[in-house]
Amino acid sequence: MSKINIEKLANSGALRTKKYIPGKSKQEVERELGLQDIVKLASNENPHGSSPFAGEALKGLAGKVNIYPDKVSTDLRRKLAELTGCGEAEISVGNGADGVIFNLGMAVIDQGDEVIIPEVTFPVYETITQIMRGKVVYSMVRELRIELPDILARITPKTKVIFLCNPNNPTGDALPPQELTAFFHQVPEEVLIVLDEAYIDFTDKSLNPGSIEIFKGGLNNLFIIRTLSKAYGLAGIRVGYGIGATELVSLVNQVKPPFDVSLIAEVAGQAALADTAFMQATLTDSIKEKNYFYRELDKLKLKYVRSHTNFVLIDTGFDASDIFNRLLSRGVIVRPAKSYNLPTCIRVTLGRHEENIRFFQALEDALKGGI
Ligand SMILES: Cc1ncc(COP(=O)(O)O)c(C=O)c1O
Repeated sequence: MSKINIEKLANSGALRTKKYIPGKSKQEVERELGLQDIVKLASNENPHGSSPFAGEALKGLAGKVNIYPDKVSTDLRRKLAELTGCGEAEISVGNGADGVIFNLGMAVIDQGDEVIIPEVTFPVYETITQIMRGKVVYSMVRELRIELPDILARITPKTKVIFLCNPNNPTGDALPPQELTAFFHQVPEEVLIVLDEAYIDFTDKSLNPGSIEIFKGGLNNLFIIRTLSKAYGLAGIRVGYGIGATELVSLVNQVKPPFDVSLIAEVAGQAALADTAFMQATLTDSIKEKNYFYRELDKLKLKYVRSHTNFVLIDTGFDASDIFNRLLSRGVIVRPAKSYNLPTCIRVTLGRHEENIRFFQALEDALKGGI
């Protein structure tokens, strides 16, 4: 049989996407380098595991997963409505925040639509825009901060969507709430602002813009995305949600894959949302560990961004791939930020304290050079 002609077969948008290079797993590193006791600080997961409530709830599903889940995740959306004060019809759930970003993109981005995306941010916005054959318009990031006036300056009659990640991944920076609120009201109402708040639980109150209140106040062109993967510790189960105008949410629900939120996700998600103690403990610990990071980084005289998330972006001053490899050979996996156009930076998730100590021992060593 002749080889398949993928260029001819593919959606032209799919061909424009970049290959996603996932971070290495602990198992891969153990296998490839023959190392034990690997520390993984690469994917902004919760280092404290997940809520015991979720674990208990999952036990009740044993032997019962032969049935399809509720197609519209009614119970989970009800819990989220209670939590956010939004109507159930204003909430769409998905297979992680990634799933919600895809569902939203499928619902609104048309061929040739302009989609504004900051030049240093989470890559999934670009992927879905390209798949839908929208046109990516990059906006400026200056000194690692998203420039809101530059986004406004790039709006044209063809602009359909603005993707904004706040706090931003990979920088950890959060925009001042007053600036953000002013920006929301300057964006023409026919342009959809997609505000990805995957890390908002980790953000200091003083820097939390209160986006849900702004939405409830009548900003109908705002679509807020959140996840249970980070502070709630459910990255492996995949639950995220979007909040937006009922007409928009209804369309998103119409196009999304049926049953994209599994029974396991629906059950674990509800349990995790009820476990405020687990979530609070995670947040308290993240503040403590962030301060430990800052102290150690100051000692090493390294530049970093003050973070409003569960990770810290560090400028190592060296080629980030080299540092990544040196850390890897010492059993520590981080994320080099080269793919984010930050060639000397690494993004490091806050781990448990003993893991963070391991990271700093390895980093100090790695900065001295040598694999
Ligand atoms: C900014 C941002 N948005 C969305 C996601 C995806 O989250 P989820 O695990 O819910 O798909 C991530 C994951 O790292 C993220 O950093």
